[in-house]
Amino acid sequence: MSSLGGKKIILGVTGGIAAYKTAHLVRLLIKAGAEVQVIMTPASHQFVTPYTLSTLSKNPAYTNFFNDAGEGGTWNNHVDLALWADLMVIAPATANTLAKMANGYCDNLLMAIYLSAKCPVMVAPAMDLDMYVHPTTDRNLALLESYGNLIIPAEEGELASGLVGKGRMAEPETILQTVKDVLLNNLPLKGRKLLITAGPTYEPIDPVRFIGNHSSGKMGYDIAREAAKQGADVVLVSGPSNQKIAHERVKVISVMSAMEMYEACHQYYADVDAVVAAAAVADYRPKEVATEKIKKNSEEFIIEMDKNPDILASLGAIKEKQFLIGFALETQNEIEHAKAKIKKKNLDLIVLNSLKDEGAGFGKPTNKVTFIDKDFNIEPKELKSKEEVAQDIIYKIIKHYE
Ligand code: PMT
Repeated sequence: MSSLGGKKIILGVTGGIAAYKTAHLVRLLIKAGAEVQVIMTPASHQFVTPYTLSTLSKNPAYTNFFNDAGEGGTWNNHVDLALWADLMVIAPATANTLAKMANGYCDNLLMAIYLSAKCPVMVAPAMDLDMYVHPTTDRNLALLESYGNLIIPAEEGELASGLVGKGRMAEPETILQTVKDVLLNNLPLKGRKLLITAGPTYEPIDPVRFIGNHSSGKMGYDIAREAAKQGADVVLVSGPSNQKIAHERVKVISVMSAMEMYEACHQYYADVDAVVAAAAVADYRPKEVATEKIKKNSEEFIIEMDKNPDILASLGAIKEKQFLIGFALETQNEIEHAKAKIKKKNLDLIVLNSLKDEGAGFGKPTNKVTFIDKDFNIEPKELKSKEEVAQDIIYKIIKHYE
């Protein structure tokens, strides 16, 4: 039997230029042995015809609730269709459809089926680059992810508008692979447990002040998201951050200070297969924390500090099976400092980012990293989005366990 033999898939097609690629996607799914039911939005007819997709899928492609107006007409029962499917893929998913899905709109057959579906739902967004990076699209994708939908990210490239950037629908081959991974339950990190740290730590001075740093948490959250997408169960120990994550395989432990992060990491460490320490942990904390707000009575204010434990080094010291990945944030002699950290913290891999590189480090959506392994093999990477850097890091863990 072909790899998807017996699997029932609803393919939702919405009105974007990438709809032309769905003819190829249907072919791939059918060739893999799947039974495919195409559901189209009215707007998608402008880009690909129902006849093409019904011929290729060997099933009528439905658009409307009713096949035949008036008394005695038959209707396409959205609940039956939704329950029939083992998986629903919406590709391409336009900004409009994402907004409807995120907010429960139900003005066409596809949306009614989506709202009735109990099976896994995958979404392959496609739109122009400015629409893709618009905060509402970002929010809608995050909402869909929080509902348990799987997002197949748009790819970089030339767009129909002539602009070049992110927004191009993932290639049909990539979508097919993701379908197989989910339906055949063979995500590469399935059954693996990961501990990931993210964000800054806040070291309190008094009830209103703290010593912190510029980490937004994005790097760590993107790593957690990618790990979960690849099937891992993730414990994300996060310092204070505005980043959001809602995934059934990610457990978020929110902490404030380095000491709290230390406790949380050690609580989960024995059980995990790999650790990625992306947090920017304060090396020192005020010796004493005032219980009341400190008044500005003198010209000078000196804070005595105690050294915080090095969380990663403490995990490295008791390492058994764990694959340990640390970060190094440097401003000078980057490679030497990073190599020293590998030894000192007993790491398997370090991800070096330098604040000297434009687009790298704190707060930004991008990062430029160099991987250095424990044998000091050096692998520089180009400037990438943090999502892509996260993919590269998780790929290292996948390769380690292959
Ligand atoms: O959060 P973003 O805005 O997306 O920014 C991402 C980032 C720049 C914070 C991230 O890419 C990064 O570099 N994180 C590590 C920052 C850091 O503290 O580097 P370091 O070289 O000082 O520490 C080395 C390693 O030891 C790190 O893995 C760190 O998590 C860990 N460490 C450090 C000190 C300490 N007391 N305990 C630790 O575990």
